[in-house]
This record gives sequence, C-alpha cells and structure tokens, in this order.
Amino acid sequence: MFLSRFASILFFAMLAAGFLGQADVAAAKEKAADNYKLFCVQCHGTKGTGRGINAPALSVQPRNHTSAKDMGSLTDESVAKAIKEGGIAVAKSTQMPPFGGVLTDEEIADLVKHLRGMCKCEGKK
Ligand code: HEC
Repeated sequence: MFLSRFASILFFAMLAAGFLGQADVAAAKEKAADNYKLFCVQCHGTKGTGRGINAPALSVQPRNHTSAKDMGSLTDESVAKAIKEGGIAVAKSTQMPPFGGVLTDEEIADLVKHLRGMCKCEGKK
C-alpha cells in the first residue's frame, strides 16, 4: 500500500518534471525568437535574409541566415563566438557587433539553435 502510493507519487513527480522540461525548451525557443527580433533584424532582416533596414548603409552585407550554404559552412562554435564577441573575433567585419554584454552564454547558445532552424542546416563539424 505504502509502496504503491510512493510509486505513484514518484511517477507523477517524474511526469511533472518531464512537462516542465518541455516547457523550458519551448520557453527558450520563444526567447531566442524574441532576442532575434530585438537585436538582429535591423541588419539581418525580419526574414533573416540579410536585408534589414540598416543593410543598405553597411559596407559589408549581413549574413543571410536562411542560406544553408553560407550558414552550413560555419561551425556552431564560430557562430556563437561571432554573436558574443562580434565579427572581428572571427576575422569578419566589425559591422557585426558583439552581444556578449547583453546576452548570456545560454541565450547565445539558444540563438545558435534558432539560426540552425532558419537555415535548416547543421553546423560544419
Ligand atoms: C549592425 C548590424 C548587425 C546587427 C545588429 C547584427 N548583425 Fe550579424 N552580421 C552583420 C554583418 C555586417 C555581418 C557580415 C560580417 C562579414 O561577413 O564580414 C554579420 C554576420 C553575422 C554572422 C556570420 C558570422 C560569420 O562568421 O560569417 C552571424 C552568425 C550573425 N551575424 C548573427 C547575428 C545575430 C544572431 C545577431 C543578433 C543577436 C546579429 N548578427 C546582429 C551585421 C549585424
């Protein structure tokens, strides 16, 4: 009796943890989409194609995040580094600004996943 009650409590606790885990993943995805809209679209565009409102004023054109060819040639590590430390850290244009001051490493990792969804591609290994 006691054991079965304990087992069912354990079962529901595990079930709840599973749901919470999924909610975390969904929340992280939503947050990444929000961060993209907040910090990236002005250059990379609302569709991520690199045609944001600032793009015409830039001497180097922002990366097309929907291009599997362009994004697939970059490792996840270098994408995260470009976001955190700016284009200069990956020997690219300084017109790609660093976001390490406003985004946490976790938020940047979630943004990298968001970008992988946009290009429908995997990072170079
Ligand atoms: C002020 C304009 C601007 C903003 C804002 C901006 N970018 Fe960029 N980004 C650029 C430019 C320009 C490049 C192209 C750099 C190059 O090719 O030399 C670039 C390149 C990149 C690259 C490719 C780096 C590489 O190694 O080729 C990634 C990934 C990227 N941006 C992600 C982001 C993300 C994510 C955000 C928002 C958090 C963001 N950018 C915000 C201008 C911007």
